[in-house]
Amino acid sequence: MERTILDYETVSLDEENKALVIIDQTKLPGTIEILSLTDIEDIWDAIYLLKVRGAPAIGVAAAIGIYVVSERFDAECTDMFCREFHNAKDYLETSRPTAVNLFWALDRMEEVVSSNMDKSVAEIKRLLHDEAVQIHDEDIEVCRKIGIYALELVKPGDGLLTHCNAGQLATVKYGTATAPMYLGKEQGYGFHIFVDETRPLLQGARLTAFELQAAGMDVTLICDNMSASVMKKGLVQAVFVGCDRVAANGDTANKIGTSVVACVAKQYGVPVYVCAPTSTIDMTLKSGAEIPIEERPAEEITEMWYRERMAPEGVKVFNPCFDVTDHELIAGIVTEYGVVKAPFEKNLELMLKVNDTANRTDH
Ligand code: MRU
Repeated sequence: MERTILDYETVSLDEENKALVIIDQTKLPGTIEILSLTDIEDIWDAIYLLKVRGAPAIGVAAAIGIYVVSERFDAECTDMFCREFHNAKDYLETSRPTAVNLFWALDRMEEVVSSNMDKSVAEIKRLLHDEAVQIHDEDIEVCRKIGIYALELVKPGDGLLTHCNAGQLATVKYGTATAPMYLGKEQGYGFHIFVDETRPLLQGARLTAFELQAAGMDVTLICDNMSASVMKKGLVQAVFVGCDRVAANGDTANKIGTSVVACVAKQYGVPVYVCAPTSTIDMTLKSGAEIPIEERPAEEITEMWYRERMAPEGVKVFNPCFDVTDHELIAGIVTEYGVVKAPFEKNLELMLKVNDTANRTDH
């Protein structure tokens, strides 16, 4: 059978060459190019340039990335190794600011170093390897569980809308917002899926439409300004989106345009579900106002994808990469432990306490 994009791992560790392996997502859907990275600058670039992207995949790439880089440190003693590790971590943390998974994964890796300072460099490297592999493997399980809980929120034949790419290409497998779609496909749900193209970097058109079509789903691509049309016609029964950071009160940062979709969905009575691994929940931030929002180069709006520039030279451009959806617009936050509903402040805290997991460090 012909290989599809779903047969390639979004992000993985090449054990033999001790390299971070990713699909270069900037080339999709036209070309499937696999990159093998060992240099910290290349790994930083891959994250900044969105060759690997999507909050969970960024976290996994950072974990594997810092492991493969630390395998190549010259340090002979643990103290030197620790210093080199911290420099590498500080550097990788500057690649993108919004997805908290980047910091969460690097903190987990750092914890391995700091709690094993009595061990040899070789032993610490082995433990870093194991932690990176665990972060990778956990992601598959987490996404599958999100899919199971999310599937309970919809019925066979429903129309679903998603924004950006919170799919397999944003995780190790299944995606978050797409997890119910993949599981629904396995169980014959026959969903009709609307995918926003997602200006300016077209993650919906280039990535989500590509991977869902490869999975044999019924996919319809729409421009970002068409969600009201399909919702008004009654073609959408639920919106599923991913997230880059959820604050303690449930406010959610996700790809720019998500909050527009949520406002439209409110108008037409369509529930919006945010699919959130607990690694994306940041209880140190009270509300969405505290979430750092990445701004990207103007050219992504004025020139990219066009044969010729489509905006006057010198025009002012504002290009925030994410927006914050107010928690009042969110019907439920679907985690690997179940669906959390309002009041989010209380119920997120409770869910994390019961399951003893939370992203509580300051970033
Ligand atoms: O800029 P990107 O492509 O990294 O943005 C991705 C998103 O906004 C996703 O929806 C989010 O990271 C969740 S991915 C499961």
